[in-house]
Amino acid sequence: MKLDTSYMGLALKNPIIAGASPLTASVDSIKRLEDAGAAAIILHSIFEEQINHESHEIDHFLFKGSESYAEAIGYFPDMTLTNLESHTYLEEIASLKKSLSIPLIASLNGVSKGGWIEYAGKLQEAGADGLELNITYIPTDTDMDGMTVEKLYLDALQAVIDTVNIPVSIKMNAIFSSPASMAKQFSTLGAKGLVLFDRPVHVDIDLEELTARQTIHYSTSADISESLRWTAILYKKLASSLCISTGVHTNEDVLKAMMSGADAVQMASALLKNGESYITTVLEKLTQWMEEKEYISIEQMKGSISLHHTVNPAAYQRANYMRLLTEYRY
Ligand SMILES: Cc1cc2nc3c(=O)[nH]c(=O)nc-3n(C[C@H](O)[C@H](O)[C@H](O)COP(=O)(O)O)c2cc1C
Repeated sequence: MKLDTSYMGLALKNPIIAGASPLTASVDSIKRLEDAGAAAIILHSIFEEQINHESHEIDHFLFKGSESYAEAIGYFPDMTLTNLESHTYLEEIASLKKSLSIPLIASLNGVSKGGWIEYAGKLQEAGADGLELNITYIPTDTDMDGMTVEKLYLDALQAVIDTVNIPVSIKMNAIFSSPASMAKQFSTLGAKGLVLFDRPVHVDIDLEELTARQTIHYSTSADISESLRWTAILYKKLASSLCISTGVHTNEDVLKAMMSGADAVQMASALLKNGESYITTVLEKLTQWMEEKEYISIEQMKGSISLHHTVNPAAYQRANYMRLLTEYRY
């Protein structure tokens, strides 16, 4: 059975990548992920704020208005205590590269045009095989229009791509007004991979404490839906490879991802819930299913249930939506 695939120009022995999470922040668990069969590792993210303590570029985006600076800076965790600092992250890459035989992709989370971009070059020097860019920015300014936000994403990606030779992917979010157009623009700039999608942290209100709080909920298989939709829409439209992140828990989820047109998947919640060795179970069941259905390779099923051959995907989507709602019986 041929499970191999290619993602951002990197040869993968199977489509399952361990996505960025606390499991990819420790050398021991990264080794366990490799032993369990992970085809590549996305390291936990290093944040612009951790790289660039002294730079004030990010102030422009986050701390507009000097009177709010002191309060705003207090929102951030004490990076030196809670997170690996930038030089440790580089050491971690260099050391992991000596022992890992699968691709190691660094994860960089930034938003401004500050000095953190140069750090991308250091990630390459340290030995990262690729770089995943995650731009987490919630535009709360009612005067900031969509094009300005999109430009922020495009400029950051461009700057990183201009800095390194290793393949760069971007972890997209699904809330652009036109995800397909953004995907095309990222691809045209040279993103070798598009990760569909980042999973936002959840907002809630604590009714006892009367405070707002942000939490992380693990996904379930039901959460794969948006990623399947957009992968099926984008399949064969762009030069970038496509990777589904969010809601990949079972071998069925991997199969659906491949059939929608993904080149690879990332798993985070499922591995945090079930442990690193769970990858072995998913790979075994994946192989078993493919044997039963007489598939000989992952390549063979890629995009088989995409919208590639649908003449008018937008009309198709709307028609399906109408049918579902108008024909629903309770
Ligand atoms: C506890 C936790 C920590 C995470 N840390 C990161 C991170 O450092 N960088 C990042 O880009 N994504 C991070 N993510 C997001 C995951 O990589 C992934 O995109 C998201 O959880 C959706 O995939 P899943 O459905 O398999 O969980 C984290 C997710 C969880 C649950």
